[in-house]
Amino acid sequence: MDGGGQVLGKDLLSMAQLSGEALELLLRRAQELKAQHKAGLTHHLLEGQVLALVFQKPSLRTRVSFELAMRQLGGGALYLSPAEIKLGEREGVADAARVLSRYAQGIVARTYLHRDVEALARYADVPVVNGLSDREHPCQILADLLTLRERFASLRGRTLAYVGDGNNVVHSLLYALPGVGMDLRIATPPGYEPDAAIVREARALAAQQGTLLELSHEPERAVEGVDAIYTDAWYSMGQEDQHEARLPIFRPFQVNARLVRRASPGAVVMHCLPAHRGEEITDEVLDGLQCVALDQAENRLHAQKALLAVLLGERSAVGSAAAST
Ligand code: CP
Ligand code: NVA
Repeated sequence: MDGGGQVLGKDLLSMAQLSGEALELLLRRAQELKAQHKAGLTHHLLEGQVLALVFQKPSLRTRVSFELAMRQLGGGALYLSPAEIKLGEREGVADAARVLSRYAQGIVARTYLHRDVEALARYADVPVVNGLSDREHPCQILADLLTLRERFASLRGRTLAYVGDGNNVVHSLLYALPGVGMDLRIATPPGYEPDAAIVREARALAAQQGTLLELSHEPERAVEGVDAIYTDAWYSMGQEDQHEARLPIFRPFQVNARLVRRASPGAVVMHCLPAHRGEEITDEVLDGLQCVALDQAENRLHAQKALLAVLLGERSAVGSAAAST
């Protein structure tokens, strides 16, 4: 195996937990697994292991990619919809975590509150992965970095501009980009900036790594000459009631052909999906040649296979070594 256990902890709750070294290990492993999958090679790395998917919100990509990731590594997955567990309602998060640890070898949780995914990790004996919380979306950003690596020979010195809402996706970008040597420019409407404490931590990371971090309210300035433009919905799951009120505020932050023309000619356009076409991104840009949103979606599968191989595979290797002694 990779020796990933030395650079990764038990869980993945935040991109802040992944050092540059851990990112390099996971991305390299993801590239290998993707190439092997395309060549028709099968794996039995997680044979007999089951991943519980505890979801409080809907999902297409996260659910499907984790289920298929387990299947392609020889294991299985069990999807528990919002109606089933009723985390924190029908029973407390700690009890649910302890019980699930007796059945499954890992848990992926999509929660409203980040503290719920943290509590699951605290009380579960098995690895817990954040499949999106109100604060972060680390698995998405892992797949996004894989997508960028496929497009650019080296990420060091490249610049990504994030335009839109200062949400969970941008929080994970803030933690991740210094580790791969990328500069980050963020343009949000006033009042919709990313969390100030996360920005402070990201500034420290950027200073350590010698990368740039710039926040503004000017989308045109943010995208000037960049290598990648990233956007996401103007309102996240759980904020549906703010949709109408946000439309006029976010309108100047739409990623359209006019804005994309200001980026570098070889720039890629990124979106984690689902997209609200005609709002944060136009059809023309989302369906255009520069857009890599479908690669990002596909790479969820490969990036998460790498993550599961390290988090679950190494634990079982340690477990079986202990059992055989
Ligand atoms: N990008 C993403 O996480 O998509 P889902 O919400 O469909 O899982
Ligand atoms: N920011 C979005 C991401 C969806 C994948 C949300 O939380 O709804």
